[in-house]
Amino acid sequence: MKTITLEAPAKINLTLDILGRRADGYHDLRMVMQSVSLGDTVTVTETGDGFALLAEGIALPAGKPTLEQRAAESFFRYLGRPMPGLRVRLVKRVPAYAGLGGGSADAAAVLRGLRALYAPELPRQALEEMGLAVGSDVPFCVHGGTCLAEGRGEVLTDLPPLPGCAIVLCKPDFGLPTPELFARVDGAELGPRPSTAAMEAALARGDLPAVAGCLGNVFEQVLTAEEGAEIRAIQAALLRHGALGAAMSGSGPTVFGLFDDSDKADRAAEALRGTYRQTYLAAPVKKFGETE
Ligand code: C5P
Repeated sequence: MKTITLEAPAKINLTLDILGRRADGYHDLRMVMQSVSLGDTVTVTETGDGFALLAEGIALPAGKPTLEQRAAESFFRYLGRPMPGLRVRLVKRVPAYAGLGGGSADAAAVLRGLRALYAPELPRQALEEMGLAVGSDVPFCVHGGTCLAEGRGEVLTDLPPLPGCAIVLCKPDFGLPTPELFARVDGAELGPRPSTAAMEAALARGDLPAVAGCLGNVFEQVLTAEEGAEIRAIQAALLRHGALGAAMSGSGPTVFGLFDDSDKADRAAEALRGTYRQTYLAAPVKKFGETE
């Protein structure tokens, strides 16, 4: 039986800057993205026929094709072959609509799994192209590691890896719809931008305190007073517990903190869990190998 099980690491944004709106309705971005060890487990199995998605830990959206199904369709369309019957099983750990790319990571794992099963010779670049048809974060989730991501998010340049650290991720109980946040940015005068150059220099030096000192996300500038207050309260709690820096990831609302001491990170996670059930500990994940 053709089957494979893969880990699907979530992502955080060490920086996120929006350069402007494009003619196609998307926005040109400049972000430093990092894979983290909080992830889902994805099993892809060839079965009789049709496409079935089974998930533990979440309710699946009804009615429209899931990102996982669209990834599989995109894969076989690219190969010019009919799609065989497939079953995808998810063990879900990454919260949805959290700014952590959970759905994108699952779609990327489906692509990586299908490559291993059906076309091991395909270069990663081809998987990244297929991924862009599914979502802007999917190419990075196929790539993994530490990257500068530009364009819609698909123009990827490897950066030196984030130095070893402990990462605490904390998702408050409200949602921030991505398209709405982009619309808010279109109507806003943005203040200071995160310095991508400073982030790249800090990574090149392997300087964790400097990395933590230049975390930044322009979406934090377009939060309502209420949303902003909660995000800042989580950032303050992480810093009080010894984080070297803290920022919101993607279009939020998850906030992460970087720690050089795993005991402090454990204590921070423990303290935050009292208020925020969806609090997690993670570590940086390196770029996937060519065949993973
Ligand atoms: O590509 P994806 O479907 O994940 O994007 C979700 C939404 O986020 C898009 O519909 C768009 O509103 C916004 N987006 C954007 N510019 C990007 C990526 C996403 O405007 N580069």
